[in-house]
Amino acid sequence: MSFSARQVKLTDREQLIDLYKRVSKTIGGIARVEKEITEEYIQNILENSINNGVSFIVEDNTELVAEIHCYKLVPSVFNHVLSELTVVVDPKYQGQGLGKLLFGELLGFIEKERQDILRVELIARESNQRAINFYEKLGFKIEGRFEKRIYNGPGDFEDDIPMAWFNENYIVK
Ligand SMILES: CC(C)(COP(=O)(O)OP(=O)(O)OC[C@H]1O[C@@H](n2cnc3c(N)ncnc32)[C@H](O)[C@@H]1OP(=O)(O)O)[C@@H](O)C(=O)NCCC(=O)NCCS
Repeated sequence: MSFSARQVKLTDREQLIDLYKRVSKTIGGIARVEKEITEEYIQNILENSINNGVSFIVEDNTELVAEIHCYKLVPSVFNHVLSELTVVVDPKYQGQGLGKLLFGELLGFIEKERQDILRVELIARESNQRAINFYEKLGFKIEGRFEKRIYNGPGDFEDDIPMAWFNENYIVK
């Protein structure tokens, strides 16, 4: 099946809540559990992405099945950075190229339209090795490690891996 991506809209909110809840039920992916997927959390993502960042979604007919976003942090010293990158693909649709499609749209859009952005950053838990390998193939570089940043249960911590991608079309102002 062939899918295409479009930019996110405020009216995607309810479907985005459902998608994030479905993905949060699977262990080892995003750093949020189901009860932390609140209306406020998703509203924040939508507003930050639309006003101050970049975001794309994929639909299957009218059902929202995948999303990617990143946005600027508040301090002006980070004006050239898109941060807080999160990508989610509905568990039923994983492994079918949607993650690749969304990253292609996002990074392609930044290269073409966002010459003000030099750096895009993300963090992945160390055990999500498939995702880390995927990000490396896309051009993200591992920048270090946040030791024992993820809590998996009593006495069970995991390192978090910061990664960054640089925009070759950045224009110095
Ligand atoms: C990680 C994720 C975004 C990848 O999207 P996807 O649509 O499943 O991946 P694609 O089919 O486009 O394949 C892209 C790469 O992702 C990897 N991948 C595929 N399924 C994956 C899965 N379930 N978990 C992690 N990585 C996966 C593959 O290695 C693939 O690389 P390759 O084709 O070069 O071998 C998606 O699986 C997902 O949402 N996982 C749960 C949430 C999560 O882990 N988010 C990222 C947190 S850092």
